[in-house]
Amino acid sequence: MADVRTTTLPDAKTAPEAPPSPVHVTIRREDYRPPEWLVPEIALKFALGIEKTRVQSKLSVERNPDSADKSNVLRLNGDGLTPAGVWIDGSPCDNWSMDGGDLLLELPGDRHEIGIDVEINPAANTKLMGLYASNGMLCTQCEAEGFRRITFFPDRPDVLSKYRVRMEGDASRFPVLLSNGNRVAAGEAGDGAHWAEWHDPFPKPSYLFALVAGDLKPNRDTFTTLSGRKVDLAIWVREVDLPKTQHAMDSLKLAMAWDEKVYGREYDLDQFNIVAVTDFNMGAMENKSLNIFNSAYVLADQDTATDADFDNIARVVAHEYFHNWSGDRVTCRDWFQLSLKEGFTVFRDQSFSADVGSPPVKRIEDVRVLRAVQFPEDQGPLAHPVRPDSYMEISNFYTATVYNKGAEVIRMFHTVLGPENFRKGTDLYFDRNDGRAATCDDFVAALEDGSGVDLQPFKIWYSQAGTPKVRARIEHDAEAKIATLHLEQHVDPTPGQPDKQPMPIPLRTALVGSETGHEICPERLIILDQARQSVTFENVTEPPLLSINRNFSAPIIVEAVRSPGELERLAQADTDPFARYEAMQELMMRALVAGARGEEVDREPVIRAIGATLRSNSLDPAFKADAILLPSDSLIADRMDVVDPDAIHAVREQLRSAIGSELHDELVAAHRSDGAAGDDLSPSAKGVRRLRTVALGFVAAADQAEAAELAKAQFDRADSMTDRQGALGVLVSTDTPQRQAALNAFYDRFHDDPLVLDKWFALQAASQRPDTVDRVLELSRHFDFVITNPNRLRSLAGTFGANHWAFHSADGRGYAFLADMIIAADKLNPQVAARLVPPFGRWRRFEPKRAAMMRQQLERIAATPGLSKDVYEQVTKSLA
Ligand code: BES
Ligand code: ZN
Repeated sequence: MADVRTTTLPDAKTAPEAPPSPVHVTIRREDYRPPEWLVPEIALKFALGIEKTRVQSKLSVERNPDSADKSNVLRLNGDGLTPAGVWIDGSPCDNWSMDGGDLLLELPGDRHEIGIDVEINPAANTKLMGLYASNGMLCTQCEAEGFRRITFFPDRPDVLSKYRVRMEGDASRFPVLLSNGNRVAAGEAGDGAHWAEWHDPFPKPSYLFALVAGDLKPNRDTFTTLSGRKVDLAIWVREVDLPKTQHAMDSLKLAMAWDEKVYGREYDLDQFNIVAVTDFNMGAMENKSLNIFNSAYVLADQDTATDADFDNIARVVAHEYFHNWSGDRVTCRDWFQLSLKEGFTVFRDQSFSADVGSPPVKRIEDVRVLRAVQFPEDQGPLAHPVRPDSYMEISNFYTATVYNKGAEVIRMFHTVLGPENFRKGTDLYFDRNDGRAATCDDFVAALEDGSGVDLQPFKIWYSQAGTPKVRARIEHDAEAKIATLHLEQHVDPTPGQPDKQPMPIPLRTALVGSETGHEICPERLIILDQARQSVTFENVTEPPLLSINRNFSAPIIVEAVRSPGELERLAQADTDPFARYEAMQELMMRALVAGARGEEVDREPVIRAIGATLRSNSLDPAFKADAILLPSDSLIADRMDVVDPDAIHAVREQLRSAIGSELHDELVAAHRSDGAAGDDLSPSAKGVRRLRTVALGFVAAADQAEAAELAKAQFDRADSMTDRQGALGVLVSTDTPQRQAALNAFYDRFHDDPLVLDKWFALQAASQRPDTVDRVLELSRHFDFVITNPNRLRSLAGTFGANHWAFHSADGRGYAFLADMIIAADKLNPQVAARLVPPFGRWRRFEPKRAAMMRQQLERIAATPGLSKDVYEQVTKSLA
């Protein structure tokens, strides 16, 4: 028999190229081309039903004069859609074709009207992208590429259209019908149906389209803008949740006033709506005038929400509101520019939260998040620049690098320019780019032109991945009274970027006298832009202590030559609160890293510094709580060459226990300190509560029985969820009778409130007991565990993945559990599943046994048939 393969294979030269598997397509920034066709207007008609929604669209399309490509094929993106009818200029068209999910139409001229009918099933939409059903209502999520799951469209952010939306549906099921812009008409449609029509006067990309239909009630209010226009505000929730919406409303009004005051930005429509939904992939979404929120970032009251929840609500409400300018009025040209809107808007929400709270505490918390999430990303296999060069699935690029490092880049611009020049730059940016889809280059150009300052060297922060490490050493010439600061910078290679260039690094630096504790050289801004650089300070009359990267002026790792004694001194004397915090952290970190390496640990400087902090009369309690918290297991792991999670955990627990016993009285006093009624949300009251629980944690490390009594008392008497959750969080890691009693009491009281039940799952997934894996496995079979709800999935699997010691359990069962979760979740909701992958990413850094088991689980996930593009990308990059 002849060899079938050789006889049937076509000649290699003439063989048509195999169509690329859709799973493997990589999109590159350098391939950007302007759209061939524009869609200045779109009219949408929805006949709404939970299981069947008919979508009729009319697009006015015209050739883009700025496009070099003159093909007469119009490509309309689609995902899972089948056209039920297509019309061109009013005549039925049947010579359309499909390419993957996309619809291709041949157009004879330069300007046409396209009509398309499709039918979709919102109830079957478990990805929660496009139009979906949640808790009996219908809502949309279109960013980044969800609109193509609703109808065929050039679904890219540089195609801006004016939207008219008409929706019709059952009036009893969907009494409220919302979309973007203004409601221009409404009426009855017979048979118990009704309809509403909405017009949005601002052209917008498809990712900002939104629609909501459901049985919702509004919390209404108004806001009068700087120029005296009255805006109607409404937060839409289920009726039972109305009492929990006031904080979000107050936050919205604060944010609106803040954006006027700080950026000169006024709201631009007569209505602003926020809707809370139970099932949501992210935190919230900035759809023009119709923000849609995960209910976790809307609903709060004293009984069910912690101080952190209240702060997060204010932050997220402000963030989405701020997007009205930084995102909606000026949008992104392509998804590689995502940080243009997200990095800038995170910087804006961080500044807002600092202004309405405590700036140093907010800065410490932002840096903690950056270090916990972005630094590991930058040092692992998923490292990418703030403006990435390529992606497979854009949803995977809503990362801490794009968001938080992106915000740090904007903050550096702010630091270098100063507030006035920065404002001139942002004014020019909004002015120039209003109504346009812009790039990160446009942003920097506006800052430069507005301020007159050259920022070109800083643009490397957009293109070069990796966290710079800066070595610093100070030399003192006592006779000449001169101090010389020697600086060296280095960036490790990252995937696709083997060779790194020096970066401009703004370092706010001061010198503190080691004898007097005074600031002997006032703060100055040093720009380190060479691989090595030296800077001199004059009039240095006593041996100096180096206070560098104050307020964390650059997102880098500082390796400064400073003795434990010097750090201890800085922790008390530095005038920059962040630098004081940093000195404490460094002191603790060195002890912990030494211990984890099996070296002798000198605990005394750490204990003395914590004792002095606790006893201080001048520091506020929130700062104290932040300053005395030990670096987490995973932060310690980031400093180790070979990670042994058990060793790290043991040394950290020993230090906590030593602190708990040696500072017992100070800690119990801090725990007992009063003056914070549950309804008092002032920064100082929040600080008292925070410190109360942090102190209790140290006591528990030394004496579980004593701490369990204190915790149970705190739990039983709690007049806020902060105290209740704090106490339960301490108990849940103990081996005491009070533990289960409190867990049961909590469940019994709150199991009907999904957001509080999420806390119950999360607390147990964060437990530092040796049986956490077993418990988490049990919880995954619990009656209330609902894998289709992203909040519930994250509260169990997401929290567990961040529980360093439990996830890295030596028997590998933590890895198997999370991998099982990823595989199961991927079949329903790839976006959320893919976000569970990163804890596996750093497998190479672990001791060989764990590294092998982690890798094995990644390979098992990769080999799963039918894997989504989302998880495929994260897993293959993690293995590469
Ligand atoms: N535009 C995003 C929401 C989004 C992200 C939609 C990814 C689709 C894919 C929104 O503005 C956002 O950034 N939300 C954050 C919260 C914010 C306070 C950083 C979120 O959802 O986590
Ligand atoms: Zn955002």
